[in-house]
Amino acid sequence: MIAFRTGRKIPASAEVHAVGVCSGSGAERPDDLDWGVLDGRGFEAKAGQVEIVSGGDRPIAAVGLGPADKMTAAVIRKASASLARSAKRMRRIAVSVLDAVPDSVDRADALRALAEGMTLGAYSYGDFKSEHKPNKLENVHVIGPGGRAVTEALEQGQRVAEAVCFVRDLVNEPGGSLTPTRFAELAEELAEREGLEITVLDLDAIREAELGGLLGVNRGSEQPPRFVEVSYEPDPEAECRGSVALVGKGITFDSGGLSIKTGTGMMTMKCDMSGGAAVLGVMAAIAAVAPPVKVTGYVPLTDNMLGGDATRPGDVLTMANGKTVEVLNTDAEGRLVLADALSLACRAEPDAIVDLATLTGACMVALGPKMAGLMGNNEAWINQLADAAERTGERVWRLPLPDDYKAQLDSSVADMKNIGGPHGGALTAGLFLSNFVDEGIPWAHLDIAGPAFTEAEDAETSKGGTGFGVRMLLDALANFEPPMASEDD
Ligand code: BES
Ligand code: ZN
Ligand code: ZN
Repeated sequence: MIAFRTGRKIPASAEVHAVGVCSGSGAERPDDLDWGVLDGRGFEAKAGQVEIVSGGDRPIAAVGLGPADKMTAAVIRKASASLARSAKRMRRIAVSVLDAVPDSVDRADALRALAEGMTLGAYSYGDFKSEHKPNKLENVHVIGPGGRAVTEALEQGQRVAEAVCFVRDLVNEPGGSLTPTRFAELAEELAEREGLEITVLDLDAIREAELGGLLGVNRGSEQPPRFVEVSYEPDPEAECRGSVALVGKGITFDSGGLSIKTGTGMMTMKCDMSGGAAVLGVMAAIAAVAPPVKVTGYVPLTDNMLGGDATRPGDVLTMANGKTVEVLNTDAEGRLVLADALSLACRAEPDAIVDLATLTGACMVALGPKMAGLMGNNEAWINQLADAAERTGERVWRLPLPDDYKAQLDSSVADMKNIGGPHGGALTAGLFLSNFVDEGIPWAHLDIAGPAFTEAEDAETSKGGTGFGVRMLLDALANFEPPMASEDD
């Protein structure tokens, strides 16, 4: 874990000094930098561009911040992540990057983004490598005024980023290793450490609770399922604006079941618990952020396998709210476990629900690999989430839930089937989920099939699990306003 400190002077032990540089003709060109070398290397101070050149007492890292008038916390986060990557063999680094940041960016936001970016950029997953070479950064000395507000902002950024890294670890752990049982144990450890309430349902308790979707998906597996419910209560002395339920898809591996995927199709399917992991990630940093709301996370956990008694296409399941579903494609399993989780979440009558799920390949076809589809039944709540995403540099795009598409889910033997027609699969999946949200409860759905996992390293994201959702959800909770019922409820 990186130690962030503040101080006015560069400590003698610092191995490199990082300075921020803006691009554009009017931008200042700090004269302690060797511009001959920088120009020669094509350094244009683009956001995230970093070059290390020799300097007087120690090497200097020139950190590109792009044009000053376009600077945001997101740019600082990205540049800080590149800096952490470029300085990966150094242990101690002095940073004056924020000196070049204009006053239009709030100072606390800038400090949070710096700590977040550096922590995220330093991440790599090495649990299964016999020789893992992790980033060596130990000590970041932020040059400038100190004080409580500064320390708090740095600490908060770091806590949030560490929660994101925890989610990445969960997603990157292979499906044969991170079983539902192990996921639930990790959730219990986390709850204990953070002082959160937790209940874990085992197979018997899941049967007792009649979670037919979770049991149906689990039927082909040797691994028992789990259902995690974990909650946070704000300090009783502090403000409380209501309650929010977070629901996350927790398929620890998705083979497709009897409607089996192709070999290539299942190569990354250890990522299918990314929604559940993000819910846990939020809970890991929630005490540090201390939002003015009660928050309960619901995570249904199982893998989707094809054992001898696996659910067969054509089988009918009865979900926790009593509705019946004809399973025509066992690979559309996420919506089955989410149906139960949403039903349970509604019983507590929260002021708002948001679910996160690597739900459909169709959402990736629509929006590509970097943004999540955002749907729901309440404009005000959807807007709060979209604003939070914007502020935290996570990308979401609004998709519709057209009422007349619901007929695609009509079944001749049950209340509905689990697949729609060949087109618009992200929307029919969202419409399916809407059947399990009680009327009048504001609900939003994030299809994170694209952004949860990546094959390419890019600024603050590393290969594999990205930890998508944690930052925007923590921000949304911190700024939560109970949404009013909207016209389309
Ligand atoms: N877990 C997959 C969706 C997915 C695909 C996530 C690619 C991440 C990357 C989900 O369970 C699934 O298989 N969905 C099917 C639904 C279809 C059968 C209606 C899909 O998208 O093909
Ligand atoms: Zn599937
Ligand atoms: Zn899945």
